[in-house]
Amino acid sequence: MQRREFMKNAALAGAGLFIAPSGTFGANGSNNKLNIALIGSWGRGEAHFSSIATENVVALCDINDDHLAFGAKRFPQAKTYVDWRKLLEDHKKLSLDAVVICTADHTHAFIANWALNRNLHVYCEKPLAVSVEEARTVRANWMSKKSKLATQVGMQRHAIANFNRLRELILDGAIGELKSASAWGNRQCRPDLCDYDQEKGIVYFKDNKAVAGYLPDAGAPPSNLHYDLWLGPSPAHAYNPGYFSRGPGANCLSWNMFWDFGAGQIGDMGSHTMDLLWNCVDATLPTSAEAKGDPFNAALTPIKCESHFEHPANSWRGPISVAWYQGGAMPTPPKDFIDLKKIGHGAMFKGSQGFIVADFDNRLLFPYGKEADMSYYKPRAKDKLLPPLGHFQQQWIDACKNPSLKTACDFEYSGNMIEQLLLGLVASRTGKKLAYDGATGKVTNCPEANALLGRKYRDGWALNG
Ligand SMILES: NC(=O)c1ccc[n+]([C@@H]2O[C@H](COP(=O)([O-])OP(=O)(O)OC[C@H]3O[C@@H](n4cnc5c(N)ncnc54)[C@H](O)[C@@H]3O)[C@@H](O)[C@H]2O)c1
Repeated sequence: MQRREFMKNAALAGAGLFIAPSGTFGANGSNNKLNIALIGSWGRGEAHFSSIATENVVALCDINDDHLAFGAKRFPQAKTYVDWRKLLEDHKKLSLDAVVICTADHTHAFIANWALNRNLHVYCEKPLAVSVEEARTVRANWMSKKSKLATQVGMQRHAIANFNRLRELILDGAIGELKSASAWGNRQCRPDLCDYDQEKGIVYFKDNKAVAGYLPDAGAPPSNLHYDLWLGPSPAHAYNPGYFSRGPGANCLSWNMFWDFGAGQIGDMGSHTMDLLWNCVDATLPTSAEAKGDPFNAALTPIKCESHFEHPANSWRGPISVAWYQGGAMPTPPKDFIDLKKIGHGAMFKGSQGFIVADFDNRLLFPYGKEADMSYYKPRAKDKLLPPLGHFQQQWIDACKNPSLKTACDFEYSGNMIEQLLLGLVASRTGKKLAYDGATGKVTNCPEANALLGRKYRDGWALNG
């Protein structure tokens, strides 16, 4: 559906003119309200309080009793759980329609997949998955149900007007024919915990200068924290308060650089920043991936790394290359006087006639070369501008109630995007240029890479439950 049509439908839904037939998809609750469960009821979970408060919040889940109490204070009517599997088991008793997932990254694909298996709409905080296999599983599950269920990955910056303006510039030919696109992010590691030797690409624990790994055993976890449930499907690692030491909404920075708990910067700001690029290139899965960066650390995802991907032509452009740079790695600027490093999280598009450099809010058009006279650029009329997305979480709520509405960052769009980035991490581990068959999800020229597309789970945990 074109965005224009989507916006028309959104307006109808917003005006209350669409009523979902009860007992099918849409809303089970009274007054066409959704019955929603919030999983992870503190930190990023709090950012969802106001948008889900318009619906019936029937259940809350958190593995930290204090955080569960925090959510329960806001939604006293909700049933509380510490184990999301129990909550999903009760989905019929709760007449549940939808879940919002704000837990640690290593549980996202599990909860999302289990929820889809129970025909629930899903909003999942970014990243959707931490392995290629997880991204493919969740995307395929949703694709088989997309006419009935609405999904959205929490890349809410997508609603910033600059996303539309960049897409218009590129599709309308402001830089000629699109050739390549790069995105980058400059986050490195937690300076309170680690020292990073940028030359060697090695992270050391701050105190004892040993090469950093999973945090040392710090004894029993506090009684309010159900640590074993926090570990969930991931291999067991001893408890250390360092995994929980950041403030609300930033605690993800305590655990997301460890392989068993996240995907490093890719799952962090990388998801937002690659979205800035992904929205403008209409790509699906790459045919190759190649990466270089810090030497492999068995516990920590790389800090400095760059990944390069090739994408086939589509209906409006030729083949393109896409790149992701992190932790200090940067693309080459069009001219030395353009200092890309001044943009912490940004994207650059290269076309046959110029460049666009962007951050989330701004864009800079740079015609380049003797032929770059802009005569090829046919800017669209004002009434043809892409319509604003509106409120990002509300877009998902509206789509849950009205199956004809689309969400911007559904599990297909976001699943492809994160699969590509995660494949880049696999390429960084093998050090080889990987040929990738997106249809089967297999690397065709490097058997050891295929072994890295999934990850090991603890006994008793299955992605498909
Ligand atoms: N979209 C954004 O801009 C944005 C911003 C910050 C964080 N995030 C994402 O939100 C998620 C949470 O980040 P955070 O910083 O709030 O982390 P956090 O560690 O504080 O976790 C959030 C809450 O989830 C609970 N939790 C963790 N694992 C759980 C589980 N298995 N079951 C139930 N509850 C569980 C925690 O106890 C906590 O209350 C991450 O995936 C992160 O990437 C997104």
